[in-house]
Amino acid sequence: MQALEQKILSEGIVLSDQVLKVDAFLNHQIDPVLMQQIGHEFAARFKDQGITKIITIEASGIAPAVMAGLELGVPVIFARKHQSLTLKNDLYKAQVHSFTKQTTSTIAISNKYLHATDKVLVIDDFLANGQAALGLIDLIHQAEAEVVGVGIVIEKSFQTGRQLLLDKGYRVESLARVESLNDGQVTFVRD
Ligand code: G4P
Repeated sequence: MQALEQKILSEGIVLSDQVLKVDAFLNHQIDPVLMQQIGHEFAARFKDQGITKIITIEASGIAPAVMAGLELGVPVIFARKHQSLTLKNDLYKAQVHSFTKQTTSTIAISNKYLHATDKVLVIDDFLANGQAALGLIDLIHQAEAEVVGVGIVIEKSFQTGRQLLLDKGYRVESLARVESLNDGQVTFVRD
């Protein structure tokens, strides 16, 4: 997606050969116009799949997921990473290990919002090692719902997540595919 790649090149900051900072438009300040375009693009890629729900994870997955939900006309569920005062019982839970942060967290959603009849699109802001996406897929399986695919805003193609998800048979649509962050430069995968 060209507008997204341009934004990454103009406002992204390469922190290391592993980490891209995009606080200017995705992870802290949010660019609503770009988010709307992102939602439109996800909807175009998945529109004929009969999607009934979108699932994401707090915090940074919420903006692109809501925009996609608006375009597709379906509700958006975000998994919580922290215990909620109001969300305590009847939960689906999964463990997510972050190789980047070296932490393991429990993510949870209420079983009220996901059913066996649902066809679910997973959306997240970054795909690195795929652990967050796999955690969300685990929640969908607990509900015996169907995983339609995984939509990612920025994929770091030099890490293992994409291949892991493809090997498990999931469709992955990434709007920007970062090939390398070496030497402080962002380069994209060209098919
Ligand atoms: P994985 O789920 O693909 O295995 O990713 P990983 O554990 O490596 O990443 C954990 C967190 O770090 C996630 O956010 C993920 O979006 C983010 N992340 C990973 N690589 C990058 C990167 O290069 N740049 C930025 N900006 N973020 C990255 P999170 O902790 O869930 O944070 P948030 O959603 O609350 O912002």
